[in-house]
Amino acid sequence: MRFDTRLVHVGQEPQPGTGDVVPPLHLASTYERDVQDPVRWFYGRGENPTREGLERCLAALEDVRFASVFSSGQAAGATALAALGRRRVIVADDVYGGTHSLMNTLTGVDVRYEDLADPEVVDRVFAGDAADALVWVETPTNPLLKVVDLAEVTRRAHEVGAVVLVDNTLAGPVLQQPLRCGADVTLYSTTKSVAGHLDVLGGALVHDRDDLHEAFTAHRTAVGSVPGPFDCFLVHRGLKTLSLRTGRQVATTERLVAALLASPAVAEVRYPGLPAHPGHAVAARQMAGFGSLVSFRYRHDVDGLLGRLRLFANAVSLGGVRSLAQCPAATTHRPVPADVRERLGITADLVRVSVGIEDPDDLLEDLARALHPN
Ligand SMILES: Cc1ncc(COP(=O)(O)O)c(C=O)c1O
Repeated sequence: MRFDTRLVHVGQEPQPGTGDVVPPLHLASTYERDVQDPVRWFYGRGENPTREGLERCLAALEDVRFASVFSSGQAAGATALAALGRRRVIVADDVYGGTHSLMNTLTGVDVRYEDLADPEVVDRVFAGDAADALVWVETPTNPLLKVVDLAEVTRRAHEVGAVVLVDNTLAGPVLQQPLRCGADVTLYSTTKSVAGHLDVLGGALVHDRDDLHEAFTAHRTAVGSVPGPFDCFLVHRGLKTLSLRTGRQVATTERLVAALLASPAVAEVRYPGLPAHPGHAVAARQMAGFGSLVSFRYRHDVDGLLGRLRLFANAVSLGGVRSLAQCPAATTHRPVPADVRERLGITADLVRVSVGIEDPDDLLEDLARALHPN
């Protein structure tokens, strides 16, 4: 079964007995015990058929055996950090602001932020020994859209014994598959493109290791960070159109990028699809498209621009059907210390746009009108 077919079929086979072609919503929080098979269905925090259907589908997308879903992307990250239990964590410097908050909750762990766009950083930081380390990668990074060479970083990290987790939320599984590049775990905030409709929160860890499956499941069951059955249903329903949505969003983003480049009101455009982008060659190799997120520096008042946009909601989040525009320095990246934001270039003139599935001409007109008010 090819990728687009798996999106629609895996974990959603017609139901025995009724023939439902849509997976049923199993709301029960407890199950009548079967003395012949006492461990299969026990209690909703541990197991739920609606949830397991979604997990099978997510695992199939990267051609592996395991996915565990969570109540949010942050909950998935918290379980990964706790269950992997590494004493040192190297994090790509330009990650989602909430990842900084997550790292700040860790005690007794040495957390370092590094520019992983340069894979040699891995050798320098570990100096030959990383058996107690985790490398936490995001690529493209958020919001500066730097590109990390997944195969190269993973190769170097594995040579010294580190585990590699890739937050693949921005690209999504249609455009990038970190496990194929050698990573150990893929993390998703399924709140974003995977669910795609801006109406549900969720997270997932995808991988192919029995030991991790056991550890992630045990941690999730212990802390109770499971998504409810209806949330799983919504994520699974959104997943069916992921390829269609992604294709449309990437094509529209390329047109918007061209318009931004041509605008005198724009000082800089960041998008991995641009040949001048330093990570373009790597992105072209490891991605099947350059994504639906673009960042740019506006020469005038950013609040004014965000207020003039009619179709792009001034809202955080990304990857959904509806276009969004926001200023990361004031919102998603506020948890990043101000001096770090300044050093990275996450400044008040930076605007991040997440492109939805609206008619591309409407989006282009809205953007052009807002960029040039007179
Ligand atoms: C790249 C990335 N990772 C993780 C998260 C956290 O996901 P959630 O909001 O579902 O907890 C987000 C949320 O914006 C994100 O953008």
